[in-house]
This record gives sequence, C-alpha cells and structure tokens, in this order.
Amino acid sequence: MRKIQFFDTSLRDGEQTPGVNFNPKEKIQIAKQLEKWGVDTIEAGFPIASPGDFAAVKAIGEAVDQMTVAGLARCQKKDIDRVYEALKGANFPQIHVFIATSEVHLKDKLKMTPAEVLASIKTHVSYARERFEKVQFSPEDASRTEREFLLQAVQTAIDAGATIINIPDTVGYSNPTEFGSIFKYLLENIQSEQEIIFSSHCHDDLGMATANALAAIENGASRVEGTVNGIGERAGNTALEEVAIALHIRKDFYQCETNINLKETKRTSDLIARLSGMSIPKNKAVIGGNAYAHESGIHQDGFLKNPETYEIITPALVGVEQSSLPLGKLSGRHAFNARLVELGYTLTAEELNLAFKKFKVLADKKKQIDNTDLIALVTDQTRKAEAVACLKTVQLQYASHGFQGAIVSIQPAAGETSETKTASAIGSGSIQAIYNSIDLIFEQQPVLTQYEIQALTSGEDAQAEVHVALKNPATQQTVYGIGIDFDVLEASAKAYVEASEKFKQIGA
Ligand code: KIV
Ligand code: ZN
Repeated sequence: MRKIQFFDTSLRDGEQTPGVNFNPKEKIQIAKQLEKWGVDTIEAGFPIASPGDFAAVKAIGEAVDQMTVAGLARCQKKDIDRVYEALKGANFPQIHVFIATSEVHLKDKLKMTPAEVLASIKTHVSYARERFEKVQFSPEDASRTEREFLLQAVQTAIDAGATIINIPDTVGYSNPTEFGSIFKYLLENIQSEQEIIFSSHCHDDLGMATANALAAIENGASRVEGTVNGIGERAGNTALEEVAIALHIRKDFYQCETNINLKETKRTSDLIARLSGMSIPKNKAVIGGNAYAHESGIHQDGFLKNPETYEIITPALVGVEQSSLPLGKLSGRHAFNARLVELGYTLTAEELNLAFKKFKVLADKKKQIDNTDLIALVTDQTRKAEAVACLKTVQLQYASHGFQGAIVSIQPAAGETSETKTASAIGSGSIQAIYNSIDLIFEQQPVLTQYEIQALTSGEDAQAEVHVALKNPATQQTVYGIGIDFDVLEASAKAYVEASEKFKQIGA
C-alpha cells in the first residue's frame, strides 16, 4: 500500500471563495479539526497578503501539534521572509513557493521571459531552502504549460532544494488522462538524488477536480492538495473528503492508504460549511444530505434486503451516525461538558457557563439534544463572541393577506456605541419586514441573492439553520451569513445581521 498525504488549503485557497472570511478564532478551530481529521499539512494562509493572514499562520503554527503548517509565498524574498517570520515558532513548518509557468501567464501577467522565470525559481527556491527544510514549489497553471518548459521549471526547483513539487491545474482545464500523464512525464524525467514528493492541486471548473487528483495519484503523486467541501476560487478545489473516501472504498483499485480518520469526515465538513456560510448541496458526494437516502421503491426494497445493493458508503464510515446517548433537560453540566470534549471542544469556565445556560434553554424547547444541536450551539456562541453586532430582539405583527410589520433591535459592536439600535419596517412577508428593518439599522441596501433554511436535525422540534447571501450590485461582492435558532424567523434575522455586518466591513 502506498501512503497518500493530505494537504488542506481550506484556509488559503478555500478562503479565496468570494464572500468567505474566517475570523482568527474560527481559523484555529478549523485547524484543530483538520488535525483531528488526520490532515498531514495545512496551508494556513498567505502571510504577506495582510496582517490578519500573517497572524493566523503564526497562531496556527503554534496551536497545532502534529500537522505540518505551510505558508504561501510568491517568488519574492519579502514573501518568503514573511512566511519565515510567521512560522519560526511552529513545530513543523513548510513553505509553499509559486510562480506561473504557462505562456499566457508569462506574457500577459508576469511580463517575464522563460529564462527570467527559471532564474527567479532558482533564486527564490534556494532562498526558501536556506530557511526551511520542507520547501514546496508550484508552477502555477502547470496544466497549460508547455511540457518541456514545465520539466525545466520543476528540475530547476528541485536543483535549488525543493522537496515537494505541486502541480496545479489552476484554471480547472485538464482532464484525468491528460493530468495523469503530466505526472508520469515529470516522474520519468526529473533527476534527483533525494526523494521528491509529487502533489496535485486541482480546480473544479469542468467538474473534474476529484477525478484529476485521483489520476495524479494513479500516476505517482503521493500527496493531494484540496479543501474541505471543495470550497475555493471560482468553482472550487478538489474536495478532500471525496478523495479520502474514494481511496478507502476503492482500495482494491488504488492500493493506497491515508492518515485520514474517516469518522471525523462529516464533522469536519459541517464545520467548514457552517463557518464559511456555504451550505452543502443535498446531492453532494460523500457529505450531501441525500448521500445516504434511498428514495425509489426498488432501491428501498433492495436496501432492506441487503444494504450493499445500493449503498457503497455506510453513514457510520464518515461519522453520520448519531450519538446513542442524547442529552436532555435533566442532563447535568458534567455530562454536557464531557460530550463537548468528546466532540472536540474545550471551553473556558466562562464559555462553558454560557453554553450550559443556552443548553438548558434549548432543552426546555427540545426533548432530545443530539450532537448536531450541540455543535450548532457552540458554533453559534463562538461566532457571537467574535461578532461585532448581534441581534437582540425581533417583534412581529402578522396580518393575513396584508403587509407584515417588524421591529428589530440590534446590539452594536463593543467599542462602537453601547446603545441598542432599533428600527421598524413593513414587508410583503415577515422575513422581508425583518430584513427591511435591519437594512434601516445598518443604513445599507444589499441585494439578497440567497435564502436557504435547513433543519439541523429531524422532527418538528429541530433547530433551523438559515443561510443568506448578500450582494453589492455595484462591486459584485457577495457576503454570507448563518443563523441558527429554534425559531425560523429568529434564525433568519441572525443570519441577515451577520451578513449585514460583513457587508458593512467590506465597505459595500
Ligand atoms: O491554483 C493555483 O495555481 C494555486 C497555486 C498558488 C498553487 O492556488
Ligand atoms: Zn488554487
């Protein structure tokens, strides 16, 4: 069995998804969950990009124990210095240096000749290697790069000390046959005295990111780069959960193993979905809501006779199964905390007090509280602690066949003004009335482009999770918000407040 390493770039390429922004606390939470999931290397950010990215890479480098932590750098000394500064306290640091190699990038973006690009690779990879033992080099837009020049670029990086070569299909242009053949060609032609790890980095513009990553593995790649739920620039990146499950289910074919703890898959995916604000389509492979549902009579009949007739992945494999011991209103603080620890949350005494109070309120409304409810409760609380403004109250006046009225109060950010802001408005429905009131408070006019409600668990007492997206038509920028509550209207208001706050921050 060959070992395939997982490199997660949810916090770097994933954060390049329009409208996705993780706050510092969320980044640490994601990093720790990725470590639990078994990821080998996390790309924590692009330190030169902003002080926030620098701080996040540094904090993650110091917060995780086993994972390698990588920072991204262009072929520029100042970028490499920033990664070095950010990661000098990390247990296992790595640098990821890149420069484009395709003709169109050289001519129109970099305005460099091929010789200049090779010289830059030599200078900057050696500079990086003087500071890091693990140096990854990526020829950006590799799949559209002329083969011989790609080989020259990769060989130059190896000669300058690169230990990992990552081949990006930057614009999602390749297909499995072609992408696999790039790896075969490079592996057959590079000269190196030390072992070089080959890695794939695919985008999903043509819907082939997972297939391309698997083709790379078939052709000698021993590392796969991607994101959880496939978030990322444009159509996104290779969805790592799909690769992990494909390698497991089709071990007979791929003959590979990984360090991924498959049971943590669903939890990892849920966390990213919630914190990115990007809900998972029901029909998404591995983690979609319908991935384990059997609808047609023939399928149900077969499934009841033998699940293997129609189910190749069991829900238990990816951690979809529910805890056998749901908590209820009689459960004590000890059991509550023990379950949180089991779920991977370590709260301070103050955070625990607050979470326990919320748990009791929820337990009064809902008979049985399962893991999904608990994760939602803690995630919501973490977001609130970071949020700059939060919903205080919503009052509604409902009239059949007429306009609805809402009065909304919002507690502004600490440090702004301590005064609660209140506004009222009407709308043709309750949600519109609430959203119009919130727009008055924020004094902005975003366009609501997405409104989605999901029940977090089953049953009529399920908590609702609402996802909204707001767009600024002038700049085309989109921001996301999520609200979780037992009450759908309250969840809708929370989601809209969160998105409005982000809308304000991007200066829309
Ligand atoms: O898609 C890409 O080419 C990248 C590189 C920085 C590796 O994200
Ligand atoms: Zn990318």
